Amino acid sequence: MLALRADLLDFSAVPAWGDTGLHGVRWRPDHWLVVGDDGRIADVRPGAEGPPEGARAEDHRGRLLLPGFVDTHVHMPQLDVIASFGAELLDWLERYTFPSERAYADPGVSARGAARFLDALLAHGTTAAVVFPTVHRASAEALFAAAAERGMRIVAGKVLMDRHAPDGLRDDVAQAERDCIDLIDRWHGRGRAAYAVTVRFAPTSTPAQLAMAGALCRADPTLYMQTHVAENREEVRWVSALFPDARSYLDVYAGAGLLHARSVLAHGIWLDDLDRAALREAGAQVAFCPSSNLFLGSGLFDWPGTAAAGAKVTVASDVGGGTSLSMLRTLAEGYKVQALGGRRLTAWVALHAATRGAAEALGLGHEIGRLEPGAMADLCLWDWAVGTVDAHRLSVARDLHERCFAWMTLADERHLAATWVAGRERHRRAAAPAGLAGAAA
Ligand code: GUN
Ligand code: ZN
Repeated sequence: MLALRADLLDFSAVPAWGDTGLHGVRWRPDHWLVVGDDGRIADVRPGAEGPPEGARAEDHRGRLLLPGFVDTHVHMPQLDVIASFGAELLDWLERYTFPSERAYADPGVSARGAARFLDALLAHGTTAAVVFPTVHRASAEALFAAAAERGMRIVAGKVLMDRHAPDGLRDDVAQAERDCIDLIDRWHGRGRAAYAVTVRFAPTSTPAQLAMAGALCRADPTLYMQTHVAENREEVRWVSALFPDARSYLDVYAGAGLLHARSVLAHGIWLDDLDRAALREAGAQVAFCPSSNLFLGSGLFDWPGTAAAGAKVTVASDVGGGTSLSMLRTLAEGYKVQALGGRRLTAWVALHAATRGAAEALGLGHEIGRLEPGAMADLCLWDWAVGTVDAHRLSVARDLHERCFAWMTLADERHLAATWVAGRERHRRAAAPAGLAGAAA
């Protein structure tokens, strides 16, 4: 049994847009969180009560304990191309992304890439993710195997692309279907893995492949579906030329049976009201990818407008279009994107979306995203401050929202002290910055 003493922050309800009050916020300063040997949270109790008899106790008073972050859209092979200069989406895919993804046909490259990627997620405070590997079956296999070794909750699937991609990066409908069925048999529902039918985006799949993908989803409604939608204006124009009968980009997926409650659609910047209504009716989610949208110059996503239309919104790094695996940096970029649209993202809406909100949107609210008995102990321990600027800023904060908002905006992976997955320690920072750990608490 493990017991961690810290300031606990999570959410009991959905915070309202723009509300800096404490509705839905569960703030439990100086509490013990007790983890059972089954890897689940067993108890939460005030610090003064002490840890249970026999527990391995760690006293982290003055630090912040949060559920591990959930990144709902990220590309495993794109640590190879993160921070590539000078291109918008379609050009960036051609110049950087496609050439680098070819190497993942090699199972050794995939195994090393999967280990590097998952260890990096854990070192950035992300314990669960919805992930694109590559078109190669070996890359999905490597990702699932590496996630199982680390006990991580992962949603992933072999990427489908049978056109408009270079040699070495295309499948065909029959082979792709066999690979999907085999990977589903091997991994879907095994441990903490779930399979996502993974259409890269409409331009790289023929109508026949989209139909095959839709048939897989219809045959097993417990499967997820992940793709990209309406990210870039040139991409949207290309899709309307390729699919002249579809009402919209999103309608291409809807028509193929790919829009449902387990669909995760990255970006969704250039959707219209009918699209948003379709997302609501399907119960699908949009993964807002702010650092990617800024870096590739894709556009400014309207979060409250999309949410008000009834669509679920989660937040994602989209590395390597995105420039950091850190969900804190991603949320800080999210604030700036919303600010450019005259909207204000509170720390509560942001942190909820990256934890419990994402968990619930994925139908995993019982398992991840909250600090409650019964949930898996996927946990991250954070320093409030690691330098003089953040320590000073937090020391003059007047209320909890101000403090958490400043932390969210200034903190990154340097603030992460340790990560546990299902109660097992999977990351620990080598040494706390001298004299500053918890300085502002
Ligand atoms: N659209 C199709 N593929 C990709 C990708 O790898 N990254 C992003 N950001 N958009 C895409
Ligand atoms: Zn992406």
